[in-house]
Amino acid sequence: MAKPVTGFSKKTKEDKIEWLAKTYLSNNPAAVKTLKRYWNDDLKLQKLHDDFIENTLSNYYLPFGVAPNFLINGKLFALPMVIEESSVVAAASNAAKFWLKRGGFKAKVISTQKNGQVHLDYFGNEQDIISFFSEIKLKLIESVSTMEKNMKKRGGGLLDIELISKNETLNGYYQLHCTFETLDAMGANFINSCLEQIAKTFEAEADSFQPFKIANTFPEVVMSILSNYVPECLVQAEVSCNIVDLKQEDISGLAFAQKFIRAIQIAQTEPRRAVTHNKGIMNGIDAVVLATGNDFRAVEAGIHAYASKNGKYTSLTNAKIEDDTFRFSIEIPLALGTVGGLTSLHPLTKFAFELLQKPNAKELMELVAVAGLAQNFAAIRSLVTTGIQKGHMKMHLMNILNQVDASETEKKKAISHFNDNTVSHSAVIEYVEQLRS
Ligand code: MEV
Repeated sequence: MAKPVTGFSKKTKEDKIEWLAKTYLSNNPAAVKTLKRYWNDDLKLQKLHDDFIENTLSNYYLPFGVAPNFLINGKLFALPMVIEESSVVAAASNAAKFWLKRGGFKAKVISTQKNGQVHLDYFGNEQDIISFFSEIKLKLIESVSTMEKNMKKRGGGLLDIELISKNETLNGYYQLHCTFETLDAMGANFINSCLEQIAKTFEAEADSFQPFKIANTFPEVVMSILSNYVPECLVQAEVSCNIVDLKQEDISGLAFAQKFIRAIQIAQTEPRRAVTHNKGIMNGIDAVVLATGNDFRAVEAGIHAYASKNGKYTSLTNAKIEDDTFRFSIEIPLALGTVGGLTSLHPLTKFAFELLQKPNAKELMELVAVAGLAQNFAAIRSLVTTGIQKGHMKMHLMNILNQVDASETEKKKAISHFNDNTVSHSAVIEYVEQLRS
């Protein structure tokens, strides 16, 4: 049985690997070789990646792909996408191509406000904390003036602080709800530093506030942290066209639009479907968010919370027919950065920004929302016509062939065979076995 290790993070990378190999991998040289195969020969580049996190052992590749032909607000983009799922980039590309001929995507940012809270415990007289807050509010704002100097120069910074009582839902719980404009930065570090400073100033001032002293009851800071729920940092994207232009191979434009809208209504009504529906949207969103070095966990958490903002988890997209026009849209909260964090550090992220013609944060919000809408369009289109498996398994065929170590000739033969035959795991295995026998 393994024993706990001390000082692991201080060991060299080689020593860490040796310890792990000895402790967990029966000194298996193949396992160690796998880790080392993914080291980059460029030592400087490797060091950059080593330094991203603690205890880096190796690099974990994901495909960095691109979906071209995205016409967004009249400009053509090739969207960078980082994702492991076979059919996602192909689906995005198809949707881009489909809408390219129908006016493209329109996207607009609605709002850009971020927020964070200093969470407080206070079990005294509510009027006292209200008076205290109004007395020191300006001091709290001033306490971050040095911190927000650069942000302010560019038009951002701390916007406001409010004292909110949550006493009715949790006894003694209050919060300083702080709002921020962080411009092209995602702003997590800036917001958290400001919040911690506000919390310090709040506690220091509370110590000498007479009514608290008299009652011997002081507010206490529980924690200070930004919120990844950003419903005041919203972006919308839309596609529209005349319903006749939606005609598919064997289904009229109107019939397609009606079936499509029905699929959206189901996702709006049934949370079990809504989760999968939104997962498909996140396939597109996460892929662009990852390619641009942004925090996909923050984006995921915020978007799913937004999907349940009315108390029930529902679809992030909406579709309707207005007169003879089919309209399909998405509205999501997105806190993204085009400066700071990994954005200027990871060479592939830098590449992604160049590819996107150096967008600012608002433009990136628009591109990401479009990626989500396009992905959902592609998924629903397949689901209500051919079914999802046809396209999905076609893309997945290569993974199955790689699993059985197919040669280039076997792959060629299999691709041509499965052009007219249904792909399934067992059918592919059987086919390769047959080739080999
Ligand atoms: C698969 O990754 C995503 C889908 O399931 C989305 C959907 O069902 O809408 C195809």
